[in-house]
Amino acid sequence: MKAAVVGLGIGHAHCAGYLQSPHAELAAVCDLMPGRLARVGGTFEAGSMTELRRLYPQEILARRWEEIGVRTFTSLEELLEDPGIEIVSLCTPDHTHAELAVRILRSGRHLLMEKPLALSLPQAEAVGRALSDSGSVLAVDYEFRLNPAIRQLRRLIEEGITGEVEAFTLYHFRRPFKRDKWQKWIQRRESSGGLIVEETSHWLDLLRFLTGREVASLSCRTNDRIHPDFDFEDIAFIQGSLSAGGIFQISHALSGFDFSLNLAVHGRKATAWCHLKDNPASRLDDLQSSYCALVAWGDSNRGPEAADSRVYGAEALEPQSIKDFAMDFARCIAEGRRPAAGYEDALRALELALAAREAAAAEGSVSLSAGGSNEDSRL
Ligand SMILES: NC(=O)c1ccc[n+]([C@@H]2O[C@H](COP(=O)([O-])OP(=O)(O)OC[C@H]3O[C@@H](n4cnc5c(N)ncnc54)[C@H](O)[C@@H]3O)[C@@H](O)[C@H]2O)c1
Repeated sequence: MKAAVVGLGIGHAHCAGYLQSPHAELAAVCDLMPGRLARVGGTFEAGSMTELRRLYPQEILARRWEEIGVRTFTSLEELLEDPGIEIVSLCTPDHTHAELAVRILRSGRHLLMEKPLALSLPQAEAVGRALSDSGSVLAVDYEFRLNPAIRQLRRLIEEGITGEVEAFTLYHFRRPFKRDKWQKWIQRRESSGGLIVEETSHWLDLLRFLTGREVASLSCRTNDRIHPDFDFEDIAFIQGSLSAGGIFQISHALSGFDFSLNLAVHGRKATAWCHLKDNPASRLDDLQSSYCALVAWGDSNRGPEAADSRVYGAEALEPQSIKDFAMDFARCIAEGRRPAAGYEDALRALELALAAREAAAAEGSVSLSAGGSNEDSRL
C-alpha cells in the first residue's frame, strides 16, 4: 500500500515507519514549508526534530526525497489527487486535525492521525461522521500503548500478577514543549488545547488502557505561572475514581529539567511500577543507569528480595514507539486487525481531557478552614 505523510515534524517518525514496513511503501510527503521538504530526515540543524534522524536508515539520510522515489507536495489537495495513495498519516498541528482528517476520510484513504483527535467534541463528532460514511480504518497515535515497557505492565495486570487493580498513579515531569513549532502553535491554548488536551490526554489514555476501566469522576487543579510564553497551564494534577472501583492520580508538569515518567499500578496482590526516561543515563539517577525504561513488580508483604524487574533500551523511547505505531497501522490494515488506538479510544481521551480542563476552571473542591498559623514550618 502506498502511504503519504502530511506534516514533517514528528511526521518523520511516521515516514521511518512506512519506509521499514513490509506492508507499506512511502510514496509522498507533504508540508507547507518547502524547506522542510528538502531532504530525507529534514533540514533541522537544531531543535526538537534532530533526534528523529536516527530512525532513518543511514544510507538515505540527507538525500533528496525524489531520489528515493518519494514525491513531495506543499498542498494536501494535490497529494490526494494521486489515486495510488491508500494510507495517509496526518501529522500537522492540533488545531488542523479535525478539518484535515474529515477531508482525508472523505477522499477514501485509511488515516493514521496524530493525537489529539480534535480540540472540541463537535469537531471530534465531525471526524466520527466522516469515518462512518467511509470504508476507511482510522487510528490515533497514542503510541505509548505499543511501548514495550507499558505492554509489560499491561501483561502483569492481564495475567493476574497484580491482582484486582485498586489504584493507578502517574507522575510525569519534563522540559517545556520545544519553542520551535510551526507558527508557535503549541504555545497557544486555541491551537494546542493546552497541556491537558495536547499531552495529558496520553496519560488519561494509559489510565484506561492499563486498568481497562472508565473514569467515574475526576477533579483537577492547575498552575500556569512558570512559563509565561505558554498561555495555558504548566502543571496539572488530576485525580478521581474508576467505574468498577479504584482510584487514580495523575501529576503532569512542564517544569522539569529532564524527562521522567513514573507509573504505578497498585493491585491487591502486587504493585507494578514503571519508569521511562528519554535519556538513558541522566542526573535523575546520578548518571549511573543505562536503561530507557524499567518495569519492576512485587508483593509488598515480601519486600524487594522477592520482586522482579525488566529493563528496556532504545526500543522503549517515544520516537521509536511512534515509528512502531505507523508500522503497526499498515500491518493492521493488511491483516484486517483493529489498530492499537482507534476513534473511540481517542474520543474518550479527549472527553476526559476536556472534563479535567472544565474541573480545573470550576475549581470544585472542599474548602478547609484558613484559621491558625503555620509559623513553625515557614522557610
Ligand atoms: N504521539 C506523540 O507522542 C506526538 C509527539 C509529538 C507530536 N505529536 C503531534 O504531532 C503533531 C505535529 O507536531 P510537531 O511537533 O511535529 O509540530 P511542528 O510544528 O514541528 O510540525 C508540524 C508541521 O506541519 C506542517 N503543516 C501545518 N499545516 C499543514 C497543512 N495544512 N498541510 C501540510 N503541512 C502542514 C507545518 O509546516 C510543520 O512543518 C501535533 O498534533 C502533535 O500533537 C504527537
